Amino acid sequence: MKVDIANYESVIYKTPGKFEDTRFEKIHNVIFESSQKASVLVAQEIANLIREKNALNESCVLGLATGSSPVKVYEELVRMHKEENLSFANVITFNLDEYLSMDRTNIQSYFYFMHEHLFNHVDILPENINIPDGKVKAEDLYQYCIDYEMKIKAHGGLDFQLLGIGRTGHIGFNEPGSHFNSGTRSITLDHITRIDAAPAFLGIDNVPRKAITMGIGTVQSAKRIVLLGWGISKAKILKKTIEGEITSQVPATYLQEHNNTTFVLDKDASSELTRVKTPWLVTSCIWTDTLKLKAVVWLSALTDKPFLKLTDKDYNDNGMSSLLTEDGTAYNLNIKMFNKMQHTITGWPGGKPFADDTNRPERATPEKKRVIIFSPHPDDDMISMGGTIDRLVEQGHDVHVAYQTSGNIAVSDEEALKFAEISKSLNANSVESDSIINFLKSKTDNNIDSIEVRKLKGLIRRSESLAATRYLGVDDSNVYFLDLPFYETGTVKKNKLSDDDIDIMCSLIDHVKPHQIYAAGDLADPHGTHKVCLDSLFEALKKLKHYSYMNDCWVWLYRGAWHEWEPYQIEMAVPMSPDQVLKKRHAIFYHQSQKDGVMFQGDDSREFWVRVEDRNRLTAKKYNDLGLADYAAIEAFKRYKF
Ligand code: F6R
Repeated sequence: MKVDIANYESVIYKTPGKFEDTRFEKIHNVIFESSQKASVLVAQEIANLIREKNALNESCVLGLATGSSPVKVYEELVRMHKEENLSFANVITFNLDEYLSMDRTNIQSYFYFMHEHLFNHVDILPENINIPDGKVKAEDLYQYCIDYEMKIKAHGGLDFQLLGIGRTGHIGFNEPGSHFNSGTRSITLDHITRIDAAPAFLGIDNVPRKAITMGIGTVQSAKRIVLLGWGISKAKILKKTIEGEITSQVPATYLQEHNNTTFVLDKDASSELTRVKTPWLVTSCIWTDTLKLKAVVWLSALTDKPFLKLTDKDYNDNGMSSLLTEDGTAYNLNIKMFNKMQHTITGWPGGKPFADDTNRPERATPEKKRVIIFSPHPDDDMISMGGTIDRLVEQGHDVHVAYQTSGNIAVSDEEALKFAEISKSLNANSVESDSIINFLKSKTDNNIDSIEVRKLKGLIRRSESLAATRYLGVDDSNVYFLDLPFYETGTVKKNKLSDDDIDIMCSLIDHVKPHQIYAAGDLADPHGTHKVCLDSLFEALKKLKHYSYMNDCWVWLYRGAWHEWEPYQIEMAVPMSPDQVLKKRHAIFYHQSQKDGVMFQGDDSREFWVRVEDRNRLTAKKYNDLGLADYAAIEAFKRYKF
């Protein structure tokens, strides 16, 4: 099959620099601004193939993946089926994998996933759907796997294989150690893979340990392969896969040997590739101010020297001589970069009244600002910017805190039971407490929490949030619980943003008419709620931007518990004294239900307050390493201009 990748190339994400030099790369890849656009194009490639085959009266054999990566591709295929008459009547599918011992009716099964996202909404014939059977008996497994392979071959092999990639470098469930010519077989899941699946299973203990997967050899036999990579959490493994040596330790590197593979990436997923991260190493660059800062920060880390000690030789030796040509000498450039970073530091996040603000991150006027802090879950505010909230309140600004979601699914059943039992002790006749206690005591894995239980869990998080905001001196009347409807499904899988969500955001912004908005710009949250919350803000800003009060509104993005801005991205750095670090720790402690092994820990087993203290300390250290003042901790923000 000849694949026309021209349609991918035409929308490739372009940056001000010239990033076409791909000499470190061993797999063809294209980078898009967003996974949405990219998914539409991939869906179009699949649809074209289905139609081409149909015109020839041939069946189209698709290898399909599950997980978060292909969801938007399936969504677009369903749309094309409904609106553009794309028929799946000639399509035969083979799924990559399934958890072992998993019943197909279980909502965690890949069988369920595929039907929910694709098969139930298109005209594929049920007999043309092939998904490994998680319930196959141990004694039948060997033959079952051979039959799966044979069936693919009998249909002429896979015309197209869609893939995601795990952080271990797995494709399908071919974990590190998988052989290049492996076939369909059972496999033990890597610990990292299980951690990544934990949110969907409400805790790692519930994640299966084994799976059936197509082999590397099976995947490699496909005539065309497209791998989807979205988000910052995939950036490191994608660099290894695309630029590294072929190794069984990163099974996706085997794709380097396939002659018709394209990796379709979004901007974040591509961020570790040499041509994106350090373009000056592969090509001549257009040196924008941001790129200059990024490069000099990188050089400083590489040479282990503060800005002001970098020499002409350091620049020349590391592919940055063209930068020196533009800026004269290392001396000039170093001072420029030093000042740029220096100007990001302020102890006055709301602006310093009556001061010259030419080189300050925030305006001096109005002296007292109205501020909204949006927090996706009820604790992100304290975790990510507790020190800054403290300063804003102390410096007399009118601070409002809005919790965008109830955060109810992150409260454990044990915690909820404890509160229900207290409530029952206070009021022995409470029917509601009885029903909650009964529900929780008889709850099984597949149960979605009852409305009452969700309400109780949400209330627990409300009380914790109020305790923390009170501690920092925010008035209760300035604290809002928006309970955005997209979140209220009772499961990890959320609804799409709707006008109801945006309207709630708009009406709060319109009510406060803020001079400053703070929001989580953290897109690496393992189950995506931060991203949706950010989108809800962006949509609200779009709707409101013609109101005159919005001309005075600046938006600052903090990052949640998982990642931090890189030094070159930071536009406001708020230092904290050792006392303020302790105060912030205390504020986080009020979120008791999120302590001691929380349900959505991600891949970092430290408690939130520990990891955020480390992170704030590290940011301060990075500033100090660049030659700036030595602070105990720093909270970092980047401005979003709309
Ligand atoms: C899914 C599969 C896996 C996933 C990979 C990425 O059928 O075989 O290889 O593609 O784990 O998962 P997501 O897309 O959820 O990040």
